[in-house]
Amino acid sequence: MDTVNLGLEDVFIKYTKLTYIDGNKGILRYRGYDVNDLVKNCTFEEVSYLMIYGELPNSGQLKSFVDDLRDHYKLPEHVLDLIAALPRESDTLTMMETAFASMSSGDYKWNQEDDRKQAAKIMGEDLGIISNIYRHKIGLELKNPDRKYGYAEAFLRNCFDNITQEKIDAMNSALIIYIDHEVPASTTTALVASSTLSDMYSCITAAIAALKGPLHGGAAEAAYHQLIEIGKPENVENWFNENILKNNKRLMGFGHRVYKTYDPRMKIFKGIAEKLVETEEQKKNLEIAKNLEEMGVKTYGSKGIYPNTDYYSGLVFNEIGFPIYMFTTLFGFSRVLGWVAHISEYVEEEERLIRPRAIYTGFDKRDFIPLADR
Ligand SMILES: CC(C)(COP(=O)(O)OP(=O)(O)OC[C@H]1O[C@@H](n2cnc3c(N)ncnc32)[C@H](O)[C@@H]1OP(=O)(O)O)[C@@H](O)C(=O)NCCC(=O)NCCS
Repeated sequence: MDTVNLGLEDVFIKYTKLTYIDGNKGILRYRGYDVNDLVKNCTFEEVSYLMIYGELPNSGQLKSFVDDLRDHYKLPEHVLDLIAALPRESDTLTMMETAFASMSSGDYKWNQEDDRKQAAKIMGEDLGIISNIYRHKIGLELKNPDRKYGYAEAFLRNCFDNITQEKIDAMNSALIIYIDHEVPASTTTALVASSTLSDMYSCITAAIAALKGPLHGGAAEAAYHQLIEIGKPENVENWFNENILKNNKRLMGFGHRVYKTYDPRMKIFKGIAEKLVETEEQKKNLEIAKNLEEMGVKTYGSKGIYPNTDYYSGLVFNEIGFPIYMFTTLFGFSRVLGWVAHISEYVEEEERLIRPRAIYTGFDKRDFIPLADR
């Protein structure tokens, strides 16, 4: 008998050499390298090269990749105009969708050489797009990032006047942490679009639409809102009893379809937050987060529900200087590279139109009734 696999749970949609997850042990590797090692030792550019080319670059390969992508920090004029023309109240992911959609071309031909060139181009443009979305939101004139800086630094310099090495390092780590996570809803959406041989920019636009929701990319914003709502460390227990236990709300930033233990990315973000937070306000939020984590794990740990990557990432992004409305877009900023790597791998190695079936549960054949008789 045919059955429906709701949520496509445990359905394998592709083979991949990109990302390995062991959800029971809390392991995440990109092309065989542990995420912790990459965060400790690499720039986002090196990890991006690893994802696209399959190996970490030597210094010559890195230089030429970096030169190439920096050529694309400068956005086509129409993209800047388009961002500037959007109402400032538009949400930042809508702005991101609009910018990427505006660069799509109907006649893209997929092949490994062009896909790799396109990946570096998109990575450079991504930096210009996201930093200018932020500039537009806060009312600054739009401008292209400065190509003399590395990725994380050029990004922060295009957003803020004052940045520190700690913040650049934190941004670099966040970019690596979010770069890919196998085939969550957004990546699957990109794969569906790529399986029709649509172009790369359109696939990215489709993925952004799936990233938006609070059950996926929006979780970091929701998790941070919880901290604000709780207000003080001593309110955690009452808030948890009232909202989560009594009113059956979901604890945001907790739970994962694949991880049934601590998400290794969450541990990295927690460590960064502990080092980075300086203001009294953020120290208080960190303490609330830790108390809430403890209650959450005590209540849900036995069901395999643990804090995920979005639980502490908002604290890090906020301490770097970003308001809550940027959190999901910052996730997307990095994940663009993962989407590109997955769709390139899929189309280059095993392209087949993704076209599932649905089991019909409606009426049997019915006699047609003319409008006058209904
Ligand atoms: C991510 C998420 C959608 C994955 O869930 P899933 O694999 O589809 O699992 P389900 O939604 O079917 O939940 C399974 C059970 O766990 C419970 N559960 C899952 N996440 C929970 C959470 N964050 N808080 C409380 N209960 C949770 C569900 O209520 C359900 O309980 P039941 O079996 O008693 O009905 C889910 O954990 C969630 O909504 N988390 C909060 C949002 C979030 O942080 N998303 C970011 C993911 S990186």
